[in-house]
Amino acid sequence: MTTTEPAIGSIRSHGPSVQDLHAAETRVVPPALLDHSYVAQGMADVPKTRYTSAQYAALENEYMWTQTWQMACTVDEVLEPGDHVVYDVADQSVIVTRTKSGELKAYYNSCLHRGTKLRVDDGRVASFRCPFHGWKWDLDGNLIELPAEWDFPHVWQQPSSCLPQAQVATWGGFVFVNLDPTAESFEKVAHKMIEHFSTSFGIENRYKAFHAVKEVPANWKVCMEAFGEGYHVIATHPQIVEFAGDANSEYSIWPDSPYVTRFVNSFGIQSPHLAPISEQQVADAYFAFSARSPRGAVEVPEGETARQVVAQAFRSALSPVLGIDLGDVSDTEILDAHLYHLYPAFAPWAGVGQSLTYRWRPGPTPDTCFMDVLRMMPVPDGQERPAPAPIQHLRLDQSWKEAEGMGGLADVFEQDMANLPRVQLGLKVRTPHNKQSVSFGNYQEARLRMAQRLTDELILEGLQRDGRSQAEVEPFLIPKG
Ligand code: FES
Ligand SMILES: [Fe+2]
Repeated sequence: MTTTEPAIGSIRSHGPSVQDLHAAETRVVPPALLDHSYVAQGMADVPKTRYTSAQYAALENEYMWTQTWQMACTVDEVLEPGDHVVYDVADQSVIVTRTKSGELKAYYNSCLHRGTKLRVDDGRVASFRCPFHGWKWDLDGNLIELPAEWDFPHVWQQPSSCLPQAQVATWGGFVFVNLDPTAESFEKVAHKMIEHFSTSFGIENRYKAFHAVKEVPANWKVCMEAFGEGYHVIATHPQIVEFAGDANSEYSIWPDSPYVTRFVNSFGIQSPHLAPISEQQVADAYFAFSARSPRGAVEVPEGETARQVVAQAFRSALSPVLGIDLGDVSDTEILDAHLYHLYPAFAPWAGVGQSLTYRWRPGPTPDTCFMDVLRMMPVPDGQERPAPAPIQHLRLDQSWKEAEGMGGLADVFEQDMANLPRVQLGLKVRTPHNKQSVSFGNYQEARLRMAQRLTDELILEGLQRDGRSQAEVEPFLIPKG
């Protein structure tokens, strides 16, 4: 008798899948949420040194951060001519600004004289003047002043004296940059995310209502990966398992869109990890936890599910807050967590009332990173656009709870963040007899493995382009298969 091995990543948890829950809905589920997919990423382990080595971080800096689309700021931070934001990533920096004619530009933040950073702060200026010797560029990047120009005939009024530009794109109230002027367009790379949000989730006319950035004591991938799976819920957030699906979350990878993936985590159902509990217990647990609970007990009527009841309670509670009628809005849009991810490090939530977005960047060493949390809120109808919230900077030793306006989210973040320094330290335990690699799940953590494989591809291509030996990246590569 022969047995056939199941295909990699084809096994799923018991319990209803996200698509089962969609099929049971009585309202229309937006098309984006019916569009799900999985592409196996193999089973290979991931070398731990990718998270800890300065040599590998240098390769990421050189060949990944310089060639990928990253969110640099929000559109409302650069509304007027001369408004600018300095976007620093790894050891690179660009100035995102608006010209007099209203165009957005991103200039490499380095003086063409002796390299000084032209701007270190955000703000509004009429021109970019280098503080060292006073070379000055207008907002269109033309060199307009050069003290002692007689000494620089090779620069003054030469075409090469314009500030070089990176690529810029806008979407959903954000400004994205790509430091590689030859990279594929944002629209092409992010098309799945663009299409999904335009057909299914409105994000037009938003303003930045909250923004905090914190230095986190872990490699940027350790931090980002902690927000990329629901597998950690049972151990890290056990307080939600009575009303949250976790092992039966959905992870989408689309074959035609390698840079956009998605994670959907259902609420109003129990975790498959628990022995069965009643629908009433699920609803009670949800209401006990939620800040928006109705007063008093809510009964789950015979023939209805906890999910339907909590969704209905939220519909009633949220409609007046959002000022829209949510009567026709599906349970999944009301309840579930839908987190998109644009490689390498941009993650917007989708769904009714969802406004959160995350961003990650490497820190000064492989052992720290920066994580940004933003809330993009709709500009209230008929009202003037509120000013964008200033950025709150939190140091390594500070807590998310110190960010004003973070609310209850700070508690969940602290729970997630508590693991991260331990992960970073544990990854360094690499004595010869110990395991040298990380083992990802084939389904629940496939997106993490995939993102790391994309980085390998970029580094390998970059080394080849520069005529450098691949030997320097080989110890870090994820094996095939
Ligand atoms: S380095 Fe900028 S003007 Fe000299
Ligand atoms: Fe978490």
